[in-house]
Amino acid sequence: MTQSIPATKLAPTEPAPTEPAQDEPAQDEPQYPLAPSAVDASVYTDQARYQGELDRILSHAWFPVFPSADVPKPRDYVVWNQLGQSVVIIRLDDGSVSAWHNVCQHRGALLVEGSGRCSNGRFTCPWHGFVYDLEGSVRQVPLRESFDPAQLAGLRAPAVRVVEWSGWIWLTLSDTLPDLLEYLDTIGEELAGYRLDRFDTRFRVSVTLTANWKIVVDAFNETWHVPFTHKSTLSGLVLWRDASLKISSPHSWMTLPIRGFTDKVSNSDHRQTHLCHYLAFPNTIFSCFPNHLQMWTAWPVAPDKTVLNAYQLVGPTPDGLSDAKWEQHNERDWKHFLDVLAEDSEVINNFAALARSKGFRRNIFNTAESRLTAFHDEVAKRLR
Ligand code: FES
Ligand SMILES: [Fe+2]
Repeated sequence: MTQSIPATKLAPTEPAPTEPAQDEPAQDEPQYPLAPSAVDASVYTDQARYQGELDRILSHAWFPVFPSADVPKPRDYVVWNQLGQSVVIIRLDDGSVSAWHNVCQHRGALLVEGSGRCSNGRFTCPWHGFVYDLEGSVRQVPLRESFDPAQLAGLRAPAVRVVEWSGWIWLTLSDTLPDLLEYLDTIGEELAGYRLDRFDTRFRVSVTLTANWKIVVDAFNETWHVPFTHKSTLSGLVLWRDASLKISSPHSWMTLPIRGFTDKVSNSDHRQTHLCHYLAFPNTIFSCFPNHLQMWTAWPVAPDKTVLNAYQLVGPTPDGLSDAKWEQHNERDWKHFLDVLAEDSEVINNFAALARSKGFRRNIFNTAESRLTAFHDEVAKRLR
C-alpha cells in the first residue's frame, strides 16, 4: 500500500450526490470476503510457470501504457517496450491512435526507437531501407523486383490493439480479448467516476525490483503491512484496519478511510470520501484520492526481476486552493509516495536473496489478504 495524503486539503471538487452511489457496498458485505489460503513458493520461482504467465495471462490483458498527452499531436509517437515486445504507438492525422509491432518485416530489425515526431509520415528501416507508413504498412521496398511479389503483397508490421480512455492509451497484445471497458467491468465503472480525462500525469518514475512480479502485486494489495513497513510514513494517515475488500474477478479493489478526512466529508460516493485502491488484473494498480491518484504497473522482465512504472495523476485545482498551493501539495505527495515506495522496495528487493532458500516453502494468506487469494486463484485458473 503506498500513498500520500494531504488529508485536510483533499476536498471533493464535485457537489455531493444526493442519491447513494450504486456501487456502495451492502451493509452486511464482509470486510474480508475470502477464507485463508496458501500458495507454494514455486509459484514465484518456477521458470516454466513464469513463461506460462507471460503467454496466458500477460498476453491477454489490457494495460494503460502511456498518457494520451505523450502523443498530443498527429504524427507524434512513442515506443512501448515491455513483456519482450516493442510496439510503436502513433497518433494519426485524423487524431486516432495506431499501434503496430516495431519489427521490420524484411529481416526483423528494430524500426523505431524512443519517441518523437514522424513529420514526413514515413519510417525507414535502418538496415535495408524498407519504408513504412504511419499505420505500419510497407510502402517502399528497395530492389522490389528481386523479391517474391507474393511475399510483399499487403505486407505490414502486425497491428496491436490500442484504445484511448480516461486520458490514457491502453494496449493489449491479444486479438481476442473483449473490449477494454468490458474487460475492466466494475473497475472501469469505478474509474469512470473520477473523470480521469481531466487529470494530468504530473510525475513518473521507473524502478527495477529484484523479485517476481507477483510478489510485487501482492505487496501492494493488502494494507496490514502499513504499521510495520510504513510506520513513519503511512500508518498515521490511513485507517488500515478498516479497509473493506471487494473481489470483482479477475480484478479486486478496496476502500480505505483516511484519518481526519473520511469522517468529515458528507458524501455518499466512496470515491469522494475514501482512498480507493483498484487492481486492474493482472498488474496495474490505481490508488485514488478524490483529486489525485497514483497508478503503477508491474512489468515482469525475468522470474526474479520486475520493472515498476509509477505515475502521479493530478486533477484540477480543488476549490479554495490556488494553483500554486495545489502544485505544492502535489509535489509533496509525490515525494511522500517515493518515500513509501522506497520502504516497499526494500522489503521486495530482499526476495532476491531468498528466492532459492530451502526455507521459502509457501506463502500463507489470511482473510485480510483476501485480494491476494483472489489474485492467485485467478492466475492459477488461467494456467490450468
Ligand atoms: S531488416 Fe528492415 S529492411 Fe531489412
Ligand atoms: Fe506498502
